[in-house]
Amino acid sequence: MSKTSYPKERINILFLENISDKAVQYFKQQGYANVKKIAGALSEEELVKEVKDVHLLGIRSKTQITPKVLEAAKKLQAIGCFCIGVNQVDLKAATKKGVVVFNAPYSNTRSVAELVIGISVMLIRKIVDKNIAAHKGIWMKDAKGSYELRGKTMGIIGYGNIGSQVSVLCEALGMKVLFYDTETKLPLGNAVAAKNMKEVLSNSDIISLHVPETAQTKNLINRNNIKLFKKGSILLNYARGEVVDLKALSEAIKEGVIAGAGIDVYPWEPEKNGDHFDTPLQGLPNVILTPHIGGSTEEAQQNIGEDVSVKLFQYLERGITNGSHTVPAIGLPPVDGAHRILHIHKNVPGVLSAINTALSKNNINIVGQYLKTNEEIGYVVLDVDKKLSKRAAELLKEVKETIKVRMLY
Ligand code: NAI
Repeated sequence: MSKTSYPKERINILFLENISDKAVQYFKQQGYANVKKIAGALSEEELVKEVKDVHLLGIRSKTQITPKVLEAAKKLQAIGCFCIGVNQVDLKAATKKGVVVFNAPYSNTRSVAELVIGISVMLIRKIVDKNIAAHKGIWMKDAKGSYELRGKTMGIIGYGNIGSQVSVLCEALGMKVLFYDTETKLPLGNAVAAKNMKEVLSNSDIISLHVPETAQTKNLINRNNIKLFKKGSILLNYARGEVVDLKALSEAIKEGVIAGAGIDVYPWEPEKNGDHFDTPLQGLPNVILTPHIGGSTEEAQQNIGEDVSVKLFQYLERGITNGSHTVPAIGLPPVDGAHRILHIHKNVPGVLSAINTALSKNNINIVGQYLKTNEEIGYVVLDVDKKLSKRAAELLKEVKETIKVRMLY
């Protein structure tokens, strides 16, 4: 267990929304005993009361972090979003307050990629309808229309984290991979970058979508370009619901142009389990519908717990901000024989020179100094002479435009 200048037992950690026990255990193992867990999300009013003395806040996607909450959280150093996105946090307000915000963007990448492969096998072999029939007591032994993945072409639209993982898994199964991305991407293995989306749509046996939800990707697959698909091809959407025009897809399936579909995301999704939902794809043959569970695995939850906990801990004890959405990213090793102080300030000219002048006037030796800025704020990590570190922290608090000063060790 490492030593910190601020007593660990006085660090208050609040975890909402049933965050994985892995995270609680992690902090307890590191000597942080003050971890409070609340099962659900809290309203703004409740949160304002709860966060007053909190140093680290852990949330998932349902807790809204508003400017009012941030204003009330005077001691807050960092927010850990134990999920994939950070939309629930007012990042602008958090930046202004110098509160670091972390998440776990890649924890379920592999969960989605693996499912895409599993669903592809099920659809190309026409297992869905045979399974339904078998459950009803009907024997449907037939090779007609059942194919193998080996030798087929997987068309990937969006070659980012998930798309490129799908690419690797497809090649391992003997598939060819053709992909299209709006950005230039290094093809992995033998994958081939197409010049445009049309090339992918008209040459693939299975088309898998892995693009983000943007104005440009709304109805990316629509009535017009479905016409380009190879007859008998399969469409998979494990990305975002607005990306496919589901009415156009259902018509193409009924007309036999598309031989199957795996859909996990929808333009409208129910709020909670048990709620009713409708899609034009219900009841169609060789269509697998899943309730937005592409990334929902036990492993992904554990990865999220570990990933965010480590990021929070590294910031708390070392000042490392890699992966932060607010305070600029700095990653640096501890320096022996020195004390480390963090200084977050408004990004206006002259702050760094004011820091250096204040310290040099008092004969405080700076062993290491790192600065990074974004439009709003600057983040300086200072390693200073052990004997004078307390005085240095006091001087830094007096520097104009200071938002936060914290001594780590
Ligand atoms: P990413 O940001 O790593 O990759 C997205 C890629 O799409 C980027 O390379 C980008 O350049 C490319 N792109 C953007 N617009 C494009 C366009 N119009 N045409 C072609 N390429 C375009 O994102 P990641 O992590 O791979 O996620 C992909 C999608 O999967 C996202 O929509 C994400 O929300 C979704 N997702 C779904 C899950 C589920 O449970 N079903 C779980 C996790 C992610």
